[in-house]
Amino acid sequence: MTRTRIMQAINAEQERTICVKGWVRSARRGKEVSFIALNDGSCFDSLQLVLSPELENYNEISKVGTGACLSVVGKLIESPAAGQKWELQVEEAKILGDADDSYPLQKKRHSFEFLRSIAHLRPRSNSFGAVFRMRSQLSYAVHKFYQERGFMYVQTPIITANDCEGAGEMFRVSTLDADNPPKQNGAVDWNEDFFGERTGLTVSGQLQAELFATAFSDVYTFGPTFRAENSNTSRHAAEFWMIEPEIAFADLADNCQLGEDFLRYMVTYALDNCQEDLNFFNQRIEKGLIDKLEALAKAEFKTITYSEAVELLLKAKQTFEFAVEWGCDLQSEHERYLTEQVFNGPVFVTDYPKNIKAFYMRLNDDNKTVAAMDLLVPRVGEIIGGSQREERLDVLQARMDECGVPQEHLQWYLDIRRWGSCPHAGFGLGFERLLMYVTGMENIRDVIPFPRTPGHAKF
Ligand code: 4AD
Ligand code: MG
Repeated sequence: MTRTRIMQAINAEQERTICVKGWVRSARRGKEVSFIALNDGSCFDSLQLVLSPELENYNEISKVGTGACLSVVGKLIESPAAGQKWELQVEEAKILGDADDSYPLQKKRHSFEFLRSIAHLRPRSNSFGAVFRMRSQLSYAVHKFYQERGFMYVQTPIITANDCEGAGEMFRVSTLDADNPPKQNGAVDWNEDFFGERTGLTVSGQLQAELFATAFSDVYTFGPTFRAENSNTSRHAAEFWMIEPEIAFADLADNCQLGEDFLRYMVTYALDNCQEDLNFFNQRIEKGLIDKLEALAKAEFKTITYSEAVELLLKAKQTFEFAVEWGCDLQSEHERYLTEQVFNGPVFVTDYPKNIKAFYMRLNDDNKTVAAMDLLVPRVGEIIGGSQREERLDVLQARMDECGVPQEHLQWYLDIRRWGSCPHAGFGLGFERLLMYVTGMENIRDVIPFPRTPGHAKF
């Protein structure tokens, strides 16, 4: 008999005989009858299996441990228990893989910190089942949003010679030296000559996306990016996924509009398609989450300039750990103040000082600021970073010299300003920051299947 997913069983229209397979979430053994909650990850809820002693291998099955894997055939019947429509009257059951009581996910509440230490098993818990289902659904929504708007998906390289952001946070790429295979003692010689130049893992697909935008007009990337950022915060990972749209014939206002439409679409998609998981986050992770998301779906996003933001921060009654003055980078405490105390919602901050932003951002007429935009949201802080790009060859070259970016490495990038240059803009949205916002999860490590942070790359 073909397998029925538990989600389909739970939503069945009528009584029928089915086969389900999954992992035991909990088991309750009684004299007359035993109950097992079986989950296969297809939905948040588990299916209640009802086992009666007439079952041929009742003794064996009713003793099965939490975490064991079962294959079961039975009849879906209406459940007398509250909170569930169906239960499965088991007719045949087979243990595919038993689990003894050393299984770490016993039926009690575990801390997220503990669950991180068993990242290979945490997908079988309620919280992480919900997180990773949402991650999958929202990945689909990213493509849906851009494809419906006629954007072309471009896969930019993971190995690259360019440090797009110029922050010096690249991981270097090398090969095992074939002429000097690993020695007995494990010492390894690394060879960095494979590509004929020093390469690393990409920090952003933007530069290559710009090339495609000047051929296909509207493009986006969605892929992994890497930063050797030695900051142990709850919002930074060494490997994270970024969505980077790049649009030709667009200025900063168009860019903000796209960012706003995109975030609103993602939140609306989650509200419409992930109700069961969102209800869990709303009850157990962040009270009022659904109200907050519904408000954001309707909200008008505010926009202020960096200079206005600095003025607001200087006027603030509270004192900050990092002092504010025009020219400083905004710290997360400043971002939180603006989004949580002043605007109580998302806010775009535009036109940052050129000295704290990357070389490719378009210089404003004041010669001091660039056409940058960051979108800040409550709790998570910066969720989007983007800009209008410098399309004027001479201005860009001067900026590269000023920032110490060697022109000889980026002739290909300059070429699109030499031939058929056009105004264009784009941004990067950190997928994990979006997931943190939408699920209420507090730590970026808890929205990535196998998080990479300083000192952690085990699983
Ligand atoms: O602001 P960032 O550094 O911008 C860029 O990389 C541009 N090249 C994007 C572009 O214009 N195409 O990063 C963009 C976003 C941030 O706003 C944040 O959401 C996320 O990427 N991000 C991180 N997320 C998790 N861990 C990190 N270490 C992150 N660094 C940036
Ligand atoms: Mg940024």
